[in-house]
Amino acid sequence: MKPFIYVANWKMAMTRQSVQTFMAEFHSDAALYSRPNTTIILCPSFTHIAMVASLLNGTKAKLGGQTCSTYARGAYTGQTSATMLAETGCSYCIIGHSERRTLCDETNEDVAAQYVQLVAASLTPIICIGETASDHTAGTTTSVLEHQLSPLIEAFKQHPSSQLMIAYEPVWAIGTGVTPTIQELAATCSWLKSFISQNFAGATTMLLYGGSVDATNAAEIKTIPSVDGLLIGGASQEFKKFKNIVV
Ligand code: PGA
Repeated sequence: MKPFIYVANWKMAMTRQSVQTFMAEFHSDAALYSRPNTTIILCPSFTHIAMVASLLNGTKAKLGGQTCSTYARGAYTGQTSATMLAETGCSYCIIGHSERRTLCDETNEDVAAQYVQLVAASLTPIICIGETASDHTAGTTTSVLEHQLSPLIEAFKQHPSSQLMIAYEPVWAIGTGVTPTIQELAATCSWLKSFISQNFAGATTMLLYGGSVDATNAAEIKTIPSVDGLLIGGASQEFKKFKNIVV
């Protein structure tokens, strides 16, 4: 079994009760969280992070935030810094998710600034990129991905991180039940894997796929050699569904 990463993006979908239910089932399934070569990263909402940190005790799973501020500290009402995430037990953070880009107008430059904050706080960034449906139809996927990564590559030169994850999430595949064909996904991921290893040289880079991953399509996606992990939204929010993707 090759090393494989599963990132659960709980978005704003979980109540305190549903987090506790998930964690009780997770905690009693040592075979799941002790699987060899398997990294599980749970990304709750900010208000649940501290609780999940304590409920994770004794498991090998890790914690991540869903976004962070572009600033280190100061008068930024409502924001959460990378250092605060680290203090609360996170070792990872998702940035650049398409929902943040569209709903909160986050730009590629903002994502690069968040990356800098994460590196300063010694968190591993999970950077989301992906083309829209119209980019996909126009056949411009690779140039869109290059453009999204461009400010990040510049930031990396000044602030190199030892490890980073790129999550390829076609916008048209998120929450829609539609995924690219395996052939198309393999081709894009193979191109992206070599692009990121060239442009983030010196860092350990891992490539994740996200967008409508579920128990029926995960097994085939995992066979793509350039895919090192999965970023899972909807299907990560119920323990049984999530487990069926991992095992
Ligand atoms: P989905 O979400 O698995 O529900 O499509 C993925 C994501 O938004 O990261």
